[in-house]
Amino acid sequence: MNQNNTSNFENAEEVIEKILRERHATKEYKTNVIIPEETLNEIFELAATAPSAWNLQHWRFLVIQNQEQKDRIKPIAYGQQQISDASAVVVILGDLEANRTGREMYNRLYESEFISKAVRDILFSQIEGGYQSPQFARDEANKNAALAAMQLMLAAKSKGYDSGPIGGFNPAGLLEALNIPGRFVPVMIVTLGVAATPARSTTRFSLNELVIHESF
Ligand SMILES: Cc1cc2nc3c(=O)[nH]c(=O)nc-3n(C[C@H](O)[C@H](O)[C@H](O)COP(=O)(O)O)c2cc1C
Repeated sequence: MNQNNTSNFENAEEVIEKILRERHATKEYKTNVIIPEETLNEIFELAATAPSAWNLQHWRFLVIQNQEQKDRIKPIAYGQQQISDASAVVVILGDLEANRTGREMYNRLYESEFISKAVRDILFSQIEGGYQSPQFARDEANKNAALAAMQLMLAAKSKGYDSGPIGGFNPAGLLEALNIPGRFVPVMIVTLGVAATPARSTTRFSLNELVIHESF
């Protein structure tokens, strides 16, 4: 334990390490498992504590639990069976127009006197400046929503549920099938449930291959 850590997280190091190491991309789920709504909401709430640029919270969670609906999505994810078998299929959406959120949020903070007009206007101009570029908007949607997706998977693990990230789907097909407004980009699908079989073990690169000190 880091001796400089003055906060009160007893066992946090051990528990978080266990959660990180035991999360695996689950491909086979027990069917007919229902995640209680309260637990699912806790998982979403924890996922939404992710950081985001300017706190714009670019993520939305489109959750599918209905069997027919899951079966409809399966071919859009190229027939991946876990879509049908998982308890919940969560489409992580990224907001391409998060600058709109910024306007509302920082206006509210100004009106509640949490920030000055000058600060609000600086934030407006930074955010709107960035969002002039569609590429910037798309990068931000993907980057920030992916952080929430990661937190979603870890939060699920902390509640005893397995998960699997899925990028193998046809985005246009998903937009159409789920009537997703053009404001949002489907960043990833995350399946949630209880693994029927242990996930395949995977390896990771060594630190020698991953960490570059100071500069290339
Ligand atoms: C962005 C992204 C897309 C992925 N897409 C798929 C997918 O379409 N189907 C699948 O079975 N696994 C998918 N995976 C899971 C990876 O294959 C898995 O995370 C990786 O092999 C490492 O395994 P682990 O997560 O169990 O350690 C995806 C993972 C990520 C992060």
